[in-house]
Amino acid sequence: MLKSKIDKATGFEKRFENINTVVFEDSSTASKAVAKAIADLIQSKQKSNKSCVLGLATGSTPKGLYTELVRLHKEEGLSFKNVITFNLDEYYPMEPDSMHSYVRFMKELLMDQVDILPENYHIPDGTLPKSKISKYCSDYEAKIEAAGGLDLQILGIGGNGHIGFNESGSLQNSKTRLVALDHITRVAASKDFSGLSNTPRTAITLGVKKIMEAKRVILMAWGEGKANIINQSVEGEVTNKVPASFLQEHNNAVFVLDKEASSKLTRINTPWLVEQVEWTDKLIRKAVLALALHLKKPVLMLTDADYIENGMSDLLADSGPAYDINIKIFNKLQNTITGWPGGKPNADDSNRPERAAPAKKRILLFSPHPDDDIISMGGTFIRLQEQGHEVHVAYQTSGNIAVADDEALRFASFVCDYNEKFGIESGQAIDIYTKAAKFLANKKASEIDTPEVRYIKGLIRKGEARATSHYVGLKDEQIHFMNLPFYETGKIEKNPVGEEDIKLTMDLIEKVKPHQIYAAGDLADPHGTHKVCLDAIFESVTRLKPEPFMKDCWVWLYRGAWQEWGIDEIEMAVPMGPDQVLEKRRGIFKHQSQKDGVVFQGADSREFWQRAEDRNRETADIYDQLGMSRYAAMEAFVRWHF
Ligand code: F6R
Repeated sequence: MLKSKIDKATGFEKRFENINTVVFEDSSTASKAVAKAIADLIQSKQKSNKSCVLGLATGSTPKGLYTELVRLHKEEGLSFKNVITFNLDEYYPMEPDSMHSYVRFMKELLMDQVDILPENYHIPDGTLPKSKISKYCSDYEAKIEAAGGLDLQILGIGGNGHIGFNESGSLQNSKTRLVALDHITRVAASKDFSGLSNTPRTAITLGVKKIMEAKRVILMAWGEGKANIINQSVEGEVTNKVPASFLQEHNNAVFVLDKEASSKLTRINTPWLVEQVEWTDKLIRKAVLALALHLKKPVLMLTDADYIENGMSDLLADSGPAYDINIKIFNKLQNTITGWPGGKPNADDSNRPERAAPAKKRILLFSPHPDDDIISMGGTFIRLQEQGHEVHVAYQTSGNIAVADDEALRFASFVCDYNEKFGIESGQAIDIYTKAAKFLANKKASEIDTPEVRYIKGLIRKGEARATSHYVGLKDEQIHFMNLPFYETGKIEKNPVGEEDIKLTMDLIEKVKPHQIYAAGDLADPHGTHKVCLDAIFESVTRLKPEPFMKDCWVWLYRGAWQEWGIDEIEMAVPMGPDQVLEKRRGIFKHQSQKDGVVFQGADSREFWQRAEDRNRETADIYDQLGMSRYAAMEAFVRWHF
């Protein structure tokens, strides 16, 4: 096992992994590999007539694992008759049949679909009176011991490094107990509970001690959102601030990651600090920009010594001196900056991100939700319109789920009051509003909205999106509301991309025949709306590729979620002056239903316009730090080659 260390000569942190990590291309391949490991274990135990004792987790991470285990049972005859399971945790208080209960979760996703004996699976009981919990917890541990201890513990990891619900601060020898949930955990859970105020404050969790006593541990993590905490757990010190780091002291623990969750590990993020690398253009760019940012120097100020002292002497020997490498990277970065995102007419475009011709382009901007266009690329959107291109915007989903009930009620009451005042006869349209108002007035927490209410919420967002597009200068015929069907489940959980979604997307692309497509390029979150919207576009563009007009079509990806592209990835950076930042802000303000405490606030309490401005300013800061011109803000894009 490699120990973490800091390179004394440079002060540059030179850390290595203290836990075995296996990185897979994506979460689905990784889940299948873990399912196979479990199946092998179950079967080897069966051969020797022993039971197989598994510790199981809930949450979004193991869903793919359970799907695969069910498949192995149904299609390949994997039996669970010798399996005994103990789940990590349950919210408290919690009724087992509640839609939020982990009992229900486990039954629906696994237990009811395989042949496990009902007496053999255990999930902490969220219904006990408080006075009985302590005894219940010791009994839970005693049952694990009586079963022979956990042969394998499956874990996810919280954004704060929790395992089970052992939050930051939990002790390594902590027992199974009732715990208070951390704010970060509650925020993450709040999307399932329709808001923070409905989210439980306490839970029963297996203690760290029992997890550490498992004979083998597999922790799984997916997506960019987990990358930082994975890095801390695997490469950082063992600390109760990050309970997953305790696993460094387990003798048979492995972290199974997808590419995104592994992206902050030293060997992935800065491989030249760990091993001999093959210096591709991409890697040189990444390393030089990282070096400049690390040393807080503009690119052109890096010296031979800087390269040598920071693990890049082989690059220097091959392509140096420093000045030559610096100037190459400087020019590349400089060439990404353009005030002409649709191409500069009649200019030499050999070093520009976009083609000069045709001077007037047809542009199709896809926005997953009704406000991603203006939030994520509002400056560019406005510029493209001002520079005379034919800009179309396509709102892929209705975004109805993110409108608060009281907001919908306000609009429903408005129509009812208006009708009453003017004695308008009850027609079908009016009925819809009356019914919706009645439903909302009596709606229980986390009840799914009726189709009428969803319609009203969708209309609110539609009106806001239209207002933004008009503000930018688009005409009605340039605004497209796609209402992709995958989104319309009424729940947080959406369907995967379907044929109808692809057909609607292809139809629109064929109609507009765009020279440029802009899409929200959020590849990381496998369950998120943005990813499904992107899948629909990727699939459509790939299918349409043989069409002659597609030869002239370039696809640019913006980052819709809050993280920006890495500086080394950016291929087009569109700068904004202070006035353009304000203009964009006013465009975002059209989304009134998304202001002042939105339904999906997340851990970030800033309003959307603030997040957008901070992010665009940070990009401008990085360009400035690297020695480029100083701008107030910048929007960043990466080209997708199909
Ligand atoms: C669930 C559990 C938690 C989750 C963790 C990650 O039983 O104990 O530790 O594994 O919060 O949750 P997801 O997988 O939803 O990101």
